[in-house]
Amino acid sequence: MDLAVRAPLKEAQTIREALDAQQAIDYTRIPKKEGGHLYIPVIRAVDEYDVVEIALKARPEPAPSLREALEKELSEEEFENLKTAYDLVGDIAILEIDEELRHKESVIAQTLLETQPAVNVVVRKDGAHQGELRLQDYKHLAGEERFETAVIENGVRLSLDIRKTYYSVRSATERKRVAELVHEDERVLAMFSGIAPFPLVIAKLAHPKEIIGVELNRKAHGFAEKNVLQNKVANVQVIQGDVREVVSTLGTFDRITMPLPHTAQDFLDVAVPACNPGATIHLYHFSSEEEVQAFAKTLPGRIAELGRQASILDIVKCGNLGPGIHRWSIDIQVK
Ligand SMILES: C[S@@+](CC[C@H](N)C(=O)[O-])C[C@H]1O[C@@H](n2cnc3c(N)ncnc32)[C@H](O)[C@@H]1O
Repeated sequence: MDLAVRAPLKEAQTIREALDAQQAIDYTRIPKKEGGHLYIPVIRAVDEYDVVEIALKARPEPAPSLREALEKELSEEEFENLKTAYDLVGDIAILEIDEELRHKESVIAQTLLETQPAVNVVVRKDGAHQGELRLQDYKHLAGEERFETAVIENGVRLSLDIRKTYYSVRSATERKRVAELVHEDERVLAMFSGIAPFPLVIAKLAHPKEIIGVELNRKAHGFAEKNVLQNKVANVQVIQGDVREVVSTLGTFDRITMPLPHTAQDFLDVAVPACNPGATIHLYHFSSEEEVQAFAKTLPGRIAELGRQASILDIVKCGNLGPGIHRWSIDIQVK
């Protein structure tokens, strides 16, 4: 049997804080709610409260870190080459393993799989994002042999195949930032929309009039269609095609997202004619802190060549590509 303070539910929070201040809470047990009371586990009797004996569940031990779990498997030198941070996309853990440590990749992956309950598949990045479709190769290392999974991001469920579609969990905060800028009466164009994270996060958090996504990759578009259906949003339309051919047929917009950081600026001739007066473009770009200001300054000039006035509203750091190279959103107002 365990010891617990029997706290009426309405007072439970205050009593819990008082017990915590007296260092009386037993954090190895889980509190239990029953019959209008919360049973708060304690390590000793506390005079001013009603202390009873009750069976409580033990709190599970926290999972060891990958470094702790590998202690017996790697030498000190191998530990120096180990990158312990990994991306978790749904239930797939994505590791980066340097050449020097590849002979140990199976044991690293198996250890990760066995110690992290949320992980069912472990893969290793093989190279960088490549080509027009920005695809990345992965080598399967442990767990179920699949590359498909589903992610919950900003309250939206996104199904995807990490080998056939581009998706980065690291851009979730930026998508939320943009969604929070969107007004109810806006028409939004998500260029390069992939599996539709931008359209769906905007639809979920902002409820604008209409959002249209355009994506070239047929596989990504297939997942985008599935994601629109499974999130039950009525005002999102996704189109498969090249923005160069499709956008001019869609009318004009109040906001355009351009998440193609290496070459987005080469598509300004597509985006600018699709802007309503006062529209905002979020143009993504990779560069250093020093270079981004100079790059942003060139944009109003490029837009002037397309016959419109523009000004820079904001330059927001929203990720990293490598040492010293960041991902930026340059927020532009087109007049
Ligand atoms: C960096 S990914 C961004 C995907 C998605 N917006 C996201 O954040 O997960 C860029 C996407 O643009 C698509 N793309 C590249 N060129 C395109 C074009 N001309 N027209 C439409 N989509 C294009 C690629 O297939 C890729 O899915």
